[in-house]
Amino acid sequence: MTVRRPAHVLDISSFRRLWMAMSASSLGDWLTLLALTVLAAQVTAANGYQSQAAAVGGVFLAKLLAALLLGPLAGPIGVRLDRRMTMLVADLARLALVASVPLAGSYTWVVAAAFLVECAALFRGAASDTTVPALVPTERLEEATRLGVLVTYGTAPVAALLFTVLTAAGQWMVAGSALAYLVSATLVFTLRGVPRRGGAVATPSVLEGWRAVGADRRARGVRAGLLATVAAGGALVGVSVLAGAVAYGVVVGALGVGVAIGLFFGSRVLTQLSRLRLLGVSVVAVGAALGVIALVGDRSVVVMLTVALGLCAGVAWRVGLDVLRGAFMEPVARVTLLLVAAVVAPAAGLTGGAVLALLAVGGLVMVGGALALRRVDDRKGVSLSEDLLAALRGERYTPGDVEEVPGVFIAFEGGEGSGKTTQSRLLAIWLRDQGYDVVQTREPGSTKIGMRLRAILLDAAEKGLSPRAEALLYAADRAEHVEKVIGPALERGALVITDRYVDSSLAYQGAGRSLDPADVADVNAWATKGLLPRLTVLIDTPPSIGLTRLGGAADRIESEPLDFHERVRKEFRKLAAAAPERYLVVDGTLPLDEISRTVQDRVRDILPDPVPSESEDITGTMPAIRD
Ligand code: TYD
Repeated sequence: MTVRRPAHVLDISSFRRLWMAMSASSLGDWLTLLALTVLAAQVTAANGYQSQAAAVGGVFLAKLLAALLLGPLAGPIGVRLDRRMTMLVADLARLALVASVPLAGSYTWVVAAAFLVECAALFRGAASDTTVPALVPTERLEEATRLGVLVTYGTAPVAALLFTVLTAAGQWMVAGSALAYLVSATLVFTLRGVPRRGGAVATPSVLEGWRAVGADRRARGVRAGLLATVAAGGALVGVSVLAGAVAYGVVVGALGVGVAIGLFFGSRVLTQLSRLRLLGVSVVAVGAALGVIALVGDRSVVVMLTVALGLCAGVAWRVGLDVLRGAFMEPVARVTLLLVAAVVAPAAGLTGGAVLALLAVGGLVMVGGALALRRVDDRKGVSLSEDLLAALRGERYTPGDVEEVPGVFIAFEGGEGSGKTTQSRLLAIWLRDQGYDVVQTREPGSTKIGMRLRAILLDAAEKGLSPRAEALLYAADRAEHVEKVIGPALERGALVITDRYVDSSLAYQGAGRSLDPADVADVNAWATKGLLPRLTVLIDTPPSIGLTRLGGAADRIESEPLDFHERVRKEFRKLAAAAPERYLVVDGTLPLDEISRTVQDRVRDILPDPVPSESEDITGTMPAIRD
């Protein structure tokens, strides 16, 4: 029997329906948060600014308490309840709650509703999170989870803009959330294939999320930096309620749009700069932006600065999520946002305005960013300003002199079945034909010890190898390779062509496995004494094509799922994009001879004059080199 594989996880109709329901539900929650905070300020307006500010703080506090008290229970209790029923009840309960608030018109009920809506949302979230694995095949789970996180946050700017329109149109504030919950309930009602109960708890609690980062110094620094940006967002959201409903909607919308853009383009920003440095700098910029927002009176400038703040925060998160590899920061971020908003809003009331509170938070975020930067810095000893300036000019700043060797070092990289081995051989033949001393080699396994390491590394039976051990074994093979083969050949002036080098470890162990790319880079810099190829040729072939080209039994790495190979490819391309002067990227699906011609054209530019062996006549080969 052949199983038809959907091209995209959203082609699975039951998941698509669930996902649309999740989107509507998240949209409803954001709209509710906006509406309840504004209503809190409105029903207490008669008592003055200070009590309004405290009232707004109370709404955030109610949500925070619900998240802290019920957050850890929602998962474990949720798996015992009927999922579809939980989602339905949660949707309809939130609908009723949010509709009742304007009718009751009392502050107590606003706070109670905020608490109850959050509780319902927690159970609903847990129910849909545990439903996803039942509707989606395992290899698509990561994609599905990513889509889930996308709608949880992606709906925030949409909600803010919708909210602005609704409030500007009159007192329609809660109509949006009520409608969103109704849509969600309808979708859930028609959902089929949802298992009743059981399964694993999918949503990590705040504490689990906090701990998931582990004891690694750098990872903790990243966590601190990311939470600092959330604090800045929380402060801004907390005080802007007090500026009136429309202004509030605009600010939250601007923030959300900025974050979305930052998240999307984050990996393409200042690609020459170390990612961890970029993270630190972005966090400091978020703090600075908040400080300036505090001092500027003009509303349109505030909106622009808010977009900029969101953008920097988004960039920091893009980098941070890539480094930490996961969405487990989510519950911690949520609680941080609520906590800061709950504190900053009343603080603004006590100081008679938002200026001092925002300045204080901005200052703290800047300090936090600077400390995080110091912690995560992977280029210690290299001036940050020079690094940054070089990156702004589109160059990579390399301090000191790189040790000069007479030979030329070229690496071929690419995924499984990309064709790089064939191409590296063809290049070696072409160069030898021109009289060059060429050493053609490969990793892993080009030394005596290396051959034994290779046997361990590629043995399909060796499934239990831990990612760190794997990275160290590849690095050990590489250290031998550089010491015994590559180094001596370069010393004597040879052209060395290797099939795979450090980038393979960055892509396979760094991006493929859950290792910090900065650590993999450090280990390899040490193993190779910093020796980098003059040129790396990346033969870029989609894994879906490359993997079908392989013959024979799959080795340990080849048998990884497609998703693993996709990550590897992405990382290779990222590395190449970050230093175009040292890379040639060739489309691996082109005909063989077209690829070799492209490679030859580029290699020609970096060739030294040939040093032929004595017996050879070079007169005939000289013109061929520079023509
Ligand atoms: P190999 O049989 O040499 O095949 P290929 O033609 O793909 O190079 O296998 C090398 C395998 O080792 C390949 O699957 C990639 C993997 N690898 C790493 O994971 N990290 C590394 O640092 C290196 C050099 C290779």
